[in-house]
Amino acid sequence: MPSVDLLSPGRIDGFDTRNRMFMAPMTRSRALAGGVPSDLAIEYYAQRASAGLIISEGTAPAATGIGYARTPSIDTPEQLAAWKRITDAVHARGGRIFLQFMHVGRIAHSANRYISDPPVAPSVVRAAGQIWTDALGMQDFDTPRALDTSEIPGVIAQYAQATTSALAAGFDGVELHSASGYLPMQFLSTGSNRRTDGYGGSVRSRIRFVLETLEAMAAAAGGASRVGIKISPAMPFNDIHDDDPIETYTTLVKAIAPMGLAYLHVLRTPPLPNIFQVLRPLFSGPFAAGGGFEQQSGNAMLESGAADVIVIGKLFTSNPDLPDRFAAGAPLTPFDASTFYTPGPKGYVDFPAMSGSGSLV
Ligand SMILES: Cc1cc2nc3c(=O)[nH]c(=O)nc-3n(C[C@H](O)[C@H](O)[C@H](O)COP(=O)(O)O)c2cc1C
Repeated sequence: MPSVDLLSPGRIDGFDTRNRMFMAPMTRSRALAGGVPSDLAIEYYAQRASAGLIISEGTAPAATGIGYARTPSIDTPEQLAAWKRITDAVHARGGRIFLQFMHVGRIAHSANRYISDPPVAPSVVRAAGQIWTDALGMQDFDTPRALDTSEIPGVIAQYAQATTSALAAGFDGVELHSASGYLPMQFLSTGSNRRTDGYGGSVRSRIRFVLETLEAMAAAAGGASRVGIKISPAMPFNDIHDDDPIETYTTLVKAIAPMGLAYLHVLRTPPLPNIFQVLRPLFSGPFAAGGGFEQQSGNAMLESGAADVIVIGKLFTSNPDLPDRFAAGAPLTPFDASTFYTPGPKGYVDFPAMSGSGSLV
């Protein structure tokens, strides 16, 4: 069998990818008031179109899903029009782009939201910790309101509606953010899900929200092949805790395996260093591995057959032409964490491509 590396062409159902490097979803906090992506984002994503697939920054399916400062949504005509300009720019450069749905659940502060409703979560369990707000600086997370059982179909319907909107705005597919302590992971995890209805308690009940959401997104997309999911088993970020993440995630992955999803995106975090080996045999579709990869470790992972695709985040922030750099063996520009979430072009669209590699937009 020919060996596979980051620069080998790949395929996820429905289209070829020019390499096996996906750009990780990354919140960059440059959206305009009202959750509208800014014109700077057109340039930012177009600069990175040589990724095999771009997964967009976390985007709220509806305003209730916003928790952070200057983050986008996809439910108003203005937001859709702004996203369309972005997907057009990526496609004009031969790229592909999925939209990531990020409903933050309890990871929110009212000063960052443009609606007055309190954040919703599986249970009334406030996350320990603080969140940045432009108006008030660092603030404790809001205490969420627990979703009533009768409200859950409405939340799932928001993801379905947002899927329809994303495809209308030109996205090639959508990813459910079920990682990093946000709403779907709050349902999956025993620490944040204290429900006693059909959405809490047993592992079967805790995975139900994710399954029903994926099914609704797939139905809206005309098939599961345009829907991916991201998970981060045992990641402690955002004060999330699960008593038995191996049981939770093996049950989840076995349940989603027959759906025919575009891919399973797994972010490996230190508590479970062997999670790829645990989950890979349970999922026969494209397996996308992320978390701290660079060229050598990414190639080794693909070569070993332990993943089909490598998802890379931070290196894409400062190296818009990362596949070209890997191909040329060119030096990499170190990323600058101080500008990850700051407004404006600095640290966002001003990292140049390597000289001679072609023009940037
Ligand atoms: C600035 C920044 C913002 C991020 N925002 C998101 C996000 O919106 N959605 C998400 O799923 N992960 C987010 N992540 C996590 C990345 O998608 C990725 O899983 C993580 O950075 C590990 O990959 P890396 O080591 O290659 O950067 C973010 C990471 C960074 C550095």
